[in-house]
Parts: sequence; C-alpha cells; structure tokens
Amino acid sequence: MAKTPSKSAAQIAVEDLSEKWAKAEYARLEAEITEHDRSYYQQDAPTVTDAEYDALRQRYVAIEEKFPNLKTLQSLSLKVGAKPARGFAKVRHAVPMLSLDNAFSPEDVTDFVGRIKRFLKLADDEKTPFTAEPKIDGLSLSLRYEGGKLVNGATRGDGAEGEDVTANVRTVKEIPHELKGKNIPAVCEIRGEIYMIKAAFLELNRKQEEAGEQLYVNPRNTAAGSLRQKDASVTASRPMHFFAYAWGELSERPAETQSGMLKWLASVGFKTNPLTKVCKSIDDLIAFHESIGEQRATLDYDIDGVVYKVDRLDWQDRLGFISRTPRWAIAHKFAAERATTVLRDIEIQVGRTGALTPVGKLDPVGVGGVIVQNVTLHNFDEIERLGLRIGDTVEIQRAGDVIPQVLGVVEDKPRGTTKISVPAKCPCHLKTDVMRQKIATGEESVVVRCTGEFACPFQRKEHLRHFVSRRAYDIDGLGEKQIELFYENEWVREPADIFTLEKRNGKIKLEAVEGYGQTSVRNLFDAIDARRRIALDRFIYALGMRHVGDTTALALARGYGSWDAFHDAALKAARGDTEAREEMDALDQIGDTVIESIAAFFHEKHNLGMVERLTKEVTILDAEKPKDSPVAGKTVVFTGALEKMTRDEAKAMAEQLGAKVSGSVSKKTDYVVAGPGAGSKLDKARAEGVNVMTEDEWFVLIGGK
Ligand code: IVH
Repeated sequence: MAKTPSKSAAQIAVEDLSEKWAKAEYARLEAEITEHDRSYYQQDAPTVTDAEYDALRQRYVAIEEKFPNLKTLQSLSLKVGAKPARGFAKVRHAVPMLSLDNAFSPEDVTDFVGRIKRFLKLADDEKTPFTAEPKIDGLSLSLRYEGGKLVNGATRGDGAEGEDVTANVRTVKEIPHELKGKNIPAVCEIRGEIYMIKAAFLELNRKQEEAGEQLYVNPRNTAAGSLRQKDASVTASRPMHFFAYAWGELSERPAETQSGMLKWLASVGFKTNPLTKVCKSIDDLIAFHESIGEQRATLDYDIDGVVYKVDRLDWQDRLGFISRTPRWAIAHKFAAERATTVLRDIEIQVGRTGALTPVGKLDPVGVGGVIVQNVTLHNFDEIERLGLRIGDTVEIQRAGDVIPQVLGVVEDKPRGTTKISVPAKCPCHLKTDVMRQKIATGEESVVVRCTGEFACPFQRKEHLRHFVSRRAYDIDGLGEKQIELFYENEWVREPADIFTLEKRNGKIKLEAVEGYGQTSVRNLFDAIDARRRIALDRFIYALGMRHVGDTTALALARGYGSWDAFHDAALKAARGDTEAREEMDALDQIGDTVIESIAAFFHEKHNLGMVERLTKEVTILDAEKPKDSPVAGKTVVFTGALEKMTRDEAKAMAEQLGAKVSGSVSKKTDYVVAGPGAGSKLDKARAEGVNVMTEDEWFVLIGGK
C-alpha cells in the first residue's frame, strides 16, 4: 500500500473541497511549496522530485481557480521565477568535459612528470614546461561562441551532457557576450570556472541570518544554486565571477601553448587567473604549490589545490586521455582540513554488494566549509585499528570532495566506554548471516558481507538505486526517492519491473499516489520508454557487478561491441572457459579481479534470471565505434621495438580509433604491427596467417602522419 497521511484536506480532490477545507489546504500547499523552493533554489538540494513538486503546484493553482477569493498579490502563482518548470534543457558537449587526476604529494608530482616523459619518449634532461594555476573550487562551465557571439552556456553535468544555463550565464559580467580581438575562431567553446567570492557569500549569509532564514553551506554550493536558477534575474542579483582556463571545440587554434592560449583568452575579453605561472622544473611546480598554499587564506575565492598542465599543445595532443582525465594535467591538492568532535553512535549501512559499512554519527562540526555529522569508518578492522569506542572524541578530516574520515581518537579527552563489535547478522528484517570473504591470497577480507545477495532487501534496493543512477539508466523522474516508494510498495522489486510499470498501472494507480498526477505519471512512463534503448556500456554498468565501474563497463562494451558477444563471453567465463577468460584479460583495463567478479555474477542463477527478464524489456545498442576508422573493431598486436611512438602511445592511438589492442597473437588477431626485434609473436602471426605490417604501414593504414 502507498503511504498516505491520515484523513486530511490533502486527500480530498479539489472539486470536492469545501471553502473552509480549501483555505486550509491552500495555506498548507503554500507553506510546502515555499519550503521546497527554498531547499531547491537556495541550497541547490531539492527534497522532492520534480514530479512531486509539479503536482503540488498544480493543486495550488487548481484551488486558486476554484476559489479566486483566496488569491492575493502574494500568491505563488504570480511570483516571477517561481514557475514550476524546474528542469533545464540538456546540452551535449561537442568535446567531453573532463576532470583531473589528483596528486597529493611531491612524489605524486614527480611520478606524473615521469609518466609524461616516458610516454613522449623524452630524454631525462629535456625540459617540459608546465603552466601552474590555482584550482578554483567553483563549477565548470562551457561557453560556446559562434562567429564570436555567445550562443550557449552549459554546466559540466556528467561530462558528456550538461544543462543549458545560457540565460543565467548571460547575467555574469565577466562572461563576454561577444569576443573582441584577433584570431577569433568561427566556432569556439571556452571553458572555465564560475565561482562566488568569499565576501559576497558571507554577506549573503549575513542577510539570511538577519531575515531568520536558513544559512547557505559554502560559496561553491551557493554558486551552483545561483547558476541553476530558473529565473535568471536571481542569478543576476548574485555576484558571480568567471576564470577561463580551457577550451572544447575550436575551429582553429589561436596559439601553440597553454600559456599562449591563456594570453589569447585574456585578449578576447576573458578574465584569466593572474597567479598562473609557467614552471620549468618539478622544483618550480612544488614551490608554486607551496606559495599558493600560503596565499590561500588571503585569496578572495576558495581554491582546493593547484593545476599543472603540459604547456606545449602538440604534446597535450599526443598525451591524450585515460577515460575521463587527461594525461597532460593533474590537480595537486592541498592538505585536508581537520576538526575534532564526539562520536555518538554507529549505524550499519548495507551496500549494494552486501558490504556492511559502519558509519559514525558525530556531533555536528564545521570542517573545510561544511557541517559534518556522518563519517564513514570503512570497515570493522578500521574501527579496531583506531581503537574507537562510542563517546570518544575524534579528529576528523575532509579533503576537497573526499568523504570525511576519522584520523584517530583524541587521547587527552575523556574516553568513551561502549565498545563496537561486528554484528553477527545483517540489519535487515531477514537477519541474514554475515561473513568475511576469503580473498585471492586465502586471507580474510576486511569486508564483512551479508550473505543474502538479492534476497537481502538492502541489497535489492541498493541494486535498483544503482540501476537508475546517473551513469547507469538515468531515468528522468526515477531517482532514489521513487525507488524507495516503488520498492516499499512492491511495485518494483528488480530492474525488469521498471519497464512493466505502465502495463501494471491499472492496478497500481500511480496517479492517485500523493505527489503524482496524470501528467507526472505520463512523463515518467515516457522517460522509462525513452530508455528502452540503452548503450551497451551503460547497460553493463547498470547490472552493478562488483569491480565493474563505468570505465570498466566502457572497456568491456568497446571490447565486445555487442551485448550478445559480451553475454556469451561472460557465461563462458562463468563456466571456467580459459579461452574466454584470456580474451577478456587481453582487453585494456580488465584484469583477474574484474573477470572473477563477472564470472561470479553470471554463475549465480538469480542474476541470470534477473538479466533475462530485463533483456526482454530493453534493446541494448551496440557500442559506438569511431566512424571512418579502418581499424575500428579490429584486434591489433604491437610487438618489437616501435620507433615513431611509444608502446603506450600506440595503444592509446589504436583504442581511440576503435581498435582492440591485445597482448597476444591468436587466430582472432587482425593485424600485427612489428618493429625490429619482434620474436615469437611475429612467428606466431606468420604461422596463423595474420596480416603483419611495419610501423610505417600502420600509419598509412590509419591515414596518419
Ligand atoms: S583544467 C581537461 N584548470 O577542477 C582539464 N580545471 O577536478 C580540464 N578546475 O572539472 C580542467 N580550476 O571544474 C582546470 N585551473 C583549472 C581549474 C580546474 C578548477 C576544476 C574543473 C574540473 C575540476 C577537475
């Protein structure tokens, strides 16, 4: 049964409301909508779904129409910008917006520079200049200019697709509407960070406090909330700033270096960070990190580290990317911020893989600009290692976007007395046993898992949550809250049920559930239908196999090309077929752990049933291969010494063109690119009749340099 409040005006259809009930209901809706607006607009943290919000608004307007005397000049329906349309149109980035890998120590920076030199095959003493600049803790934006005119502005979103915030962006003074100056490409996407200065944030919070309103969390969230206002005049009233530091699509390149590009950006009207410096050595980079760290508190904007980028763009091009991060840039983070507080309790959470995670409940404390009250304790060994007891005073730290963690017990404060032990049962109502898994070495893993698998309600629900998450199925109007509702009402118990919801709605009657109406139900079903066709990598990721994150899923999708091919290989691997396992092993980024996990998943009959029912409902699209590439879908082996490129570079280039790079030659190999000194692989290629070519012939084949 759906949960509804006890008999109240909220349950009565508008046409059946008496004037007295209508008045009460109108006031209740007004208060509720105002509250949702506040959490949405001011904290950028909506507490209801768009569908629920829309339903409240519709009911509010319906009451006003039936009882016009209730309407005043303060009516929410008259307020500019408080319109119900909350979603933003999506914008596909012509070039994906990437994120950065992190370095936390000088050693990490040395490794980063070393990797670059090896990849480019540079001599140890060859200079590799880098630009070094502060890492602004704001939001990245992509601004598209055509013919020098701003045509759209988009948030990063998931990197591939962001939200269209053009109207809001136009209100930001530091973002030019038109580029002025020399060498303006016909098409250019300029990227950078939008942020709010600390003083403006404090002033905003002072006003909030004065008005008795809730306070904003930090400048970054406030900037996010301000940018995503439906009413651009609200964005305009908040002082926002923008630093340009990168680009996406460019029809021509106005400079040959990163620093040259920054100069060009400044020359056409953007603000670039004045602290940016070109550094010639690792020592220079570390000194820059230190110096910016010292200035951090005096800067008028928040930063969480510095960013180093290879200055030469031709080198950047050769270095390319690994999944979502460039090889040519890194963020060197600052040390974390710390605070002390009291550990009040422990809660056990069960993850979608059945892992039991102890979560510490703390007395709320501010660290690094946010209030922290929960802290992950990772596992029970960690609790033992820290010697934690409930009631202890603990030191916690928060590093940038990392989840807060406990560093240790503050020994000179009174110690807690309640010991924390591993629960014998899963906290679900099934009270299933928990166990410690054996790992490859035969030792016990630190992870305590519930043995209930899909029978365990925590895992089922988590599994469904993962299934609809942003990088998986990402269905509009079907988020964690709805999964909770649908799961608790037993309308959705496994992924396939999502796709049969509409068929079963005659019985369910979703439109009668609080927060839903005819329109929102229709929208939900349409959004579900729109996802009946799904990319292979998303589908594989959505299954929620342990160790198969989105990058691994993409590698599998590219490697197998189609669901049938992957499914077949997974079933074979589950049966212990060594050839299938070896083939999987040859794929980039796939190793034993992933293979074991896939094999285990496809060995479990509950999972096979779940997958079979799901695949009946959806169409899984073949993995996209880069077009016009003669090597797309081919398997290539590089062997011997390569002279024009390093092995890493060769591999990255081939994969970029959609080829599968393998370490061993078999009948299935399409090309062997052999350099001088090639040995047994070359012999095997000849024996198997595989097409063998030189490095030069390879370049001719791919139409390159
Ligand atoms: S460069 C391909 N430079 O950091 C590289 N990013 O953790 C694109 N960020 O999503 C990023 N300051 O929002 C770059 N000076 C800076 C930055 C910067 C802040 C943000 C950016 C990015 C995130 C990655």
